[in-house]
Amino acid sequence: MKSIVVLISGNGTNLQAIIDACESSIHEGRVTAVFSNKATAYGLERAKKAGAAAVFVDPKEYETRDAYDHALMEQIDEYKPDLVILAGYMRILSSEFVRHYLGRMINIHPSLLPKYPGLNTYQRAIHAGDEEHGTSVHFVTEQLDGGPVILQAKVPIFDEDTVETLTERVQNQEYRIYPLVTQWFVEDRLKMNEGKAYLDGEPLGMHGYATE
Ligand code: GAR
Repeated sequence: MKSIVVLISGNGTNLQAIIDACESSIHEGRVTAVFSNKATAYGLERAKKAGAAAVFVDPKEYETRDAYDHALMEQIDEYKPDLVILAGYMRILSSEFVRHYLGRMINIHPSLLPKYPGLNTYQRAIHAGDEEHGTSVHFVTEQLDGGPVILQAKVPIFDEDTVETLTERVQNQEYRIYPLVTQWFVEDRLKMNEGKAYLDGEPLGMHGYATE
């Protein structure tokens, strides 16, 4: 069995997609624990229903980001994670934390990276008059939303779109690509080496698999 630890801050719909895919899949990956920086995150309930540990670590109990992340790291490591998945985890990570999980931590970000790192990507894409938007799964490095992209999904933006309609369209794609990337990693097909992502030994382009 390969241990997957997921970090969340909210609803956890991506977490649910990953749990469901693991349960119905023949690969060896299983979500063993879910950590949240928010006590009320619904994803913690999803974790419990799936039989995974559900752990709230309260940022108020730590004076600095480094101290919080260090404590979080120690608790995560009790589950001996092969893979750490950020699924709507809305905190900036300390350097120590990123370095500790380098090459075995992935994130999903709702934009076609390198476009729109950071927050409010839907508003920014609509406001800019973009014709398409999307989501990216990438390895986490010390550069915010800047690690090598593994897989992206694109969707069109229509004239009548609002942030809500566009969010729904993008998230439906997230539920497809995040479990797939998780599977690749669990099957040892996906690696990061010297800041580049590789699938089956082939380097991936700046937009990840097959989207160049
Ligand atoms: C996801 O859509 C993810 O792309 C986004 O948060 C959402 C979490 O939803 N992540 C970020 O914005 C990270 N910068 P969920 O809790 O229902 O999975």
